[in-house]
Amino acid sequence: MSVRILEQMGLIELVVNGERRTGVAEPRTLLSDFLRHELGLTGTHVGCEHGVCGACTVEIDGRLARSCITLAVQVQGSSVRTIEGVATSDSFHPIQEALRDNYGLQCGFCTPGFVLTMRALLAQNQHPSETEIREFLSGNVCRCTGYAGIVAAVQDAAHRLAEAPS
Ligand code: FES
Ligand code: FES
Repeated sequence: MSVRILEQMGLIELVVNGERRTGVAEPRTLLSDFLRHELGLTGTHVGCEHGVCGACTVEIDGRLARSCITLAVQVQGSSVRTIEGVATSDSFHPIQEALRDNYGLQCGFCTPGFVLTMRALLAQNQHPSETEIREFLSGNVCRCTGYAGIVAAVQDAAHRLAEAPS
């Protein structure tokens, strides 16, 4: 690595999935690359790298964001949730179980982004209609499933979350 690049590296401090984390990044380092290569959180997938497909979706301070068009320096001091922070260590999140049980994934490449997006939808609307589900998920692309299983999974997850102990 050149001396010039090393001089430009900065320390990023943030909270990721509830844990304080630090890492170094260049001013141009994308959040997706920072999460994957600096912090080792490879569950955030990178597809289009243009903010179009939703595979890289994460939560920043409680709001969905595309990590492929966010710079790592922009999350300095923020709280970030990735797919690794959705489930507990010994069990899947009800959304993940619903995706599995409703054939809402095949290759799984798009799934982390969908899970974060579905989670945000169900946090603000506990019983979304099919139209509301399709509209909310319209920024996430899946090339395998045809979406029917994903929509069914959101409806199933809504029931599971309603029945889950608070
Ligand atoms: S990789 Fe970020 S939106 Fe496609
Ligand atoms: S499951 Fe393959 S892209 Fe969605």
